[in-house]
Amino acid sequence: MKSFHDLAELTTEEITELLALANRLDKHPEPEALRGKVLSLLFLSPSLRTLTSFQAAMTRLGGGSFVVSPEMSIHGLETRPGIVMDGAAAEHIREAVPVIASYGDAIGIRAFAQRSDLEHDVADQEFAELVDLVDKPWINMESAMQHPCQNLADWKTLDDYDVPANGGKFVLSWAYHPKALPLAVPSSTLYTAARRGMDVTVLRPEGFELPESVMQKASAAAEAAGGSVKESDDRVEAMEGAHIIYAKSWSSTKHYGDKIKDKEARDELVDWCVDEPWFDNARQDCRFMHCLPVRRGVVVAENILDGPRSIVIHEARNRMLAQMAVLHRMMGAS
Ligand code: CP
Repeated sequence: MKSFHDLAELTTEEITELLALANRLDKHPEPEALRGKVLSLLFLSPSLRTLTSFQAAMTRLGGGSFVVSPEMSIHGLETRPGIVMDGAAAEHIREAVPVIASYGDAIGIRAFAQRSDLEHDVADQEFAELVDLVDKPWINMESAMQHPCQNLADWKTLDDYDVPANGGKFVLSWAYHPKALPLAVPSSTLYTAARRGMDVTVLRPEGFELPESVMQKASAAAEAAGGSVKESDDRVEAMEGAHIIYAKSWSSTKHYGDKIKDKEARDELVDWCVDEPWFDNARQDCRFMHCLPVRRGVVVAENILDGPRSIVIHEARNRMLAQMAVLHRMMGAS
């Protein structure tokens, strides 16, 4: 495996094999599998789970890792192309990335969307330019539109909880958050549930529709896998018979890049906080998923997070197992 970027680039057989390997490594640890191997981790955006789960994954497989982020005592990093560097930044990403990559056997990179131009972010061009600087196997640790490590962990979580693939009902719901957040998790989560063959409803208020290309990609995946994709702003209809509600906030696509209009729109939507009444006509055992971090009492009520519906901790632990499988495939002897 030379890269791990988008589940759409993997065959169903490859996804199934990665999930089986994640389960195997959980039950039968291989502490020598990546002995002597080094993973470079470049975080241009913040993280808790991705950072620590990759470090834990490498350690559990017998390898090592190092982390670079702008918050550390590194030189100021310039990312703009074609710039005369006579300002504060002393180092350009065009040298920093290949240098960091050269110290490892593979590299993970995280770089969130800029969130000023929707078309630009949907094209995920900046991430493509970053990995163009790398001549080693690489992992997308979240770009403008993709979060494949989260997606693989979520797929495993659905399997672990015996949520049916065909016939399983998955609601991806927008939720209130005071800030405009990226589209990577909702877009790639929608694709993942659709690719798994589930019947997916994107529950979102007007103005927060996911981009057309994202919906089309998911619809095509669902059709091929025996599932379906639809959109709704009707909570009661969307939650009917749901097995899973996956909550996430994201930027207004209608007012993308316009902080004031986005805030005006979202400030009307503070009641989009997942709480028990949302589950009234869902399945009795409907579960709550979220990629974390999550704001308690804002995105979801505390009683849901602390109650039996929530599987967010299991989901987060699966990040480590899913990534162990990816690293094993990418850097292991086989
Ligand atoms: N879910 C996720 O990627 O978490 P972090 O942002 O903490 O890495």
